Amino acid sequence: MKKGFIFDLDGVITDTARYHYLAWKELARGLEIEIDETFNETLKGIDRMSSLERILTFGGKETAFTEAQKEALAVKKNKQYVELLTDLSPADLLPGIADFLAEAKKQDVPCAIASASKNAPMILEKLGVADYFKAIVDPATLRMGKPDPEIFLKAAAAIGIKPSEAIGFEDAQAGVEALNLAGIMAVGIVSDSDLTETTLNVNDLRETSVAALLAY
Ligand code: BG6
Ligand code: MG
Repeated sequence: MKKGFIFDLDGVITDTARYHYLAWKELARGLEIEIDETFNETLKGIDRMSSLERILTFGGKETAFTEAQKEALAVKKNKQYVELLTDLSPADLLPGIADFLAEAKKQDVPCAIASASKNAPMILEKLGVADYFKAIVDPATLRMGKPDPEIFLKAAAAIGIKPSEAIGFEDAQAGVEALNLAGIMAVGIVSDSDLTETTLNVNDLRETSVAALLAY
């Protein structure tokens, strides 16, 4: 029997993965680097500075900028990203999420957020679901990002359950790898990507239920 749920945010709770892509694409274009959706898959789940490093390496510009310039580029991307989120509201929750969280709360099943995003608390507030989560792991406290298991191990500990008692929801292969390394059952949200090494994949949470998942 499982006892708690751990959610990634971008691409699982809401479709902000799309806005990350748009903001990175515009920043990269300004640096004369063209990225496409296939390359973008490799950025999902990866923290802000590491994403920038990957883009620069992809464009053959990994040594073109100082640390201070890279910081400024990351700030610029985030400014653009946050602007794209201006109108984010509960209507932007992905299908099935609101009902699933409400049911978990009703059954007293603890939920946590394990996202690389430093914008997570603000996004959860805008979506109107912040109160459903007993814990939000602060990515600034991590030694290693996904695919390292640290973030998911911290999330499980924060809601007082063992990794083997948790179920994690992910839309990114790096996140699935992190869940597997943590010993946490992985459920893939696969609306626009293929995920391997998950226990099960669903298009959205309407295809399963709290009761069905707790029985694993
Ligand atoms: C992850 C996203 O959830 O958060 C990545 O999948 C993103 O695309 C990362 O880069 C960091 O987010 P933020 O909001 O701190 O720049
Ligand atoms: Mg994600």
